[in-house]
Amino acid sequence: VAMVILLAAGAAAGAISLASRGHAGRLSANLDPPLAADTTVREPLQPLPRSVALDARAVALGRDLFHDTRLSSDRSIACANCHVIAAGGVDGLPRSIGVNAALGDVNAPTVLNSGFNFRQFWNGRAASLEEQIDGPTQSPKEMNSNWPAILAALRSDARYPARFASIYRDGLTAPTVRHAIATYERSLVTPSRFDRYLRGDRSAITPREQAGYHKFKTLGCASCHQGVGVGGNMYQVFGVMHDYFSGRDRFPDSDLGRQAITHDERDRHVFKVPSLRNVALTAPYFHDASAPTLGSAVSIMGWYQLGRPLTVEEVDLLLEFLGTLTGELPQGALPEGALPADTTGGEPS
Ligand code: HEC
Ligand code: HEC
Repeated sequence: VAMVILLAAGAAAGAISLASRGHAGRLSANLDPPLAADTTVREPLQPLPRSVALDARAVALGRDLFHDTRLSSDRSIACANCHVIAAGGVDGLPRSIGVNAALGDVNAPTVLNSGFNFRQFWNGRAASLEEQIDGPTQSPKEMNSNWPAILAALRSDARYPARFASIYRDGLTAPTVRHAIATYERSLVTPSRFDRYLRGDRSAITPREQAGYHKFKTLGCASCHQGVGVGGNMYQVFGVMHDYFSGRDRFPDSDLGRQAITHDERDRHVFKVPSLRNVALTAPYFHDASAPTLGSAVSIMGWYQLGRPLTVEEVDLLLEFLGTLTGELPQGALPEGALPADTTGGEPS
């Protein structure tokens, strides 16, 4: 269903500048010098855009909504509880915890760079970020609310109706709440050293990291994890070469993957290939959180998706490469006053 959101009169779409090379907030007009990369080689992975054209006021409003617990029935849980922006856009739990301590069915994927996903959710059941929002807000295992309650809760804070009215002709409505949050999510683009490498700066990643990227391509990882998101642009079965689900006698919907949506046998255990951007920050791994570490996830991929046991050295090289996908948040991604979490530390204690 196509929907048109009208911005308030006089609203000019401002561009959001992304932090890159350590210089945050550059003007979008200067952001796209010609690519320096070797254009004779067609890479399966593409660099993130240096800027995305979004309305800056909608981004800021969406950021505040994303961090607002009033979107949940008992005002205890914000989107950001399960998607901690400063910590890779995830909660670090095997399964998320919603209102009334309800335990979710699957591991929370990151919202960072989610604007590049061709569908949303592990099984792809939402076609857009806007549509996705109806999931968590109304799920009894997540925010357990509904639109009339959410709109009433937001209206009780006089600042919201005024902010919405200054941005949207329709003011504060379910579609404009969805639009603001989705616009914020689209701003969460995190360029990294690897993007500089793809644009031609050979020294942006080390020779070992380059060897890891080479492995990623020659082993075949890049046949599924590809494009700007290093994933997020196709469905694939989990267990191409070996059955990952053998021994599980009965499949919950979350293990069925696409089959739970299409009811087609051929879609059993078919999932959206996840983006690997910032993957070093998003443990545990897989829809069922069955891999506690990135090394174990990589080994499982080698065996079940490519049909070969990876050597310790191969896993090491792949881990080196995957580390280059940890990027920088754009300026203004965190609510005012929030400090970025320290993600540079060692193992969690
Ligand atoms: C209780 C924890 C929880 C809350 C609250 C929550 N999410 Fe999520 N989110 C999850 C889980 C778990 C998934 C994966 C669900 C699935 O795939 O079936 C998910 C998936 C997503 C995705 C899809 C990402 C992808 O790669 O497919 C987006 C986008 C997202 N959430 C945004 C939001 C927004 C916006 C809100 C607030 C309106 C929100 N979430 C609230 C746990 C949560
Ligand atoms: C045939 C397609 C395919 C190939 C080849 C493939 N993957 Fe995957 N990958 C997937 C799918 C599908 C998932 C999601 C599985 C799930 O959780 O249900 C996934 C998940 C992952 C995850 C977990 C991400 C997360 O956020 O939980 C990592 C890490 C990963 N792959 C790395 C690799 C590496 C490294 C290789 C090469 C050794 C590789 N993949 C090869 C399809 C593939």
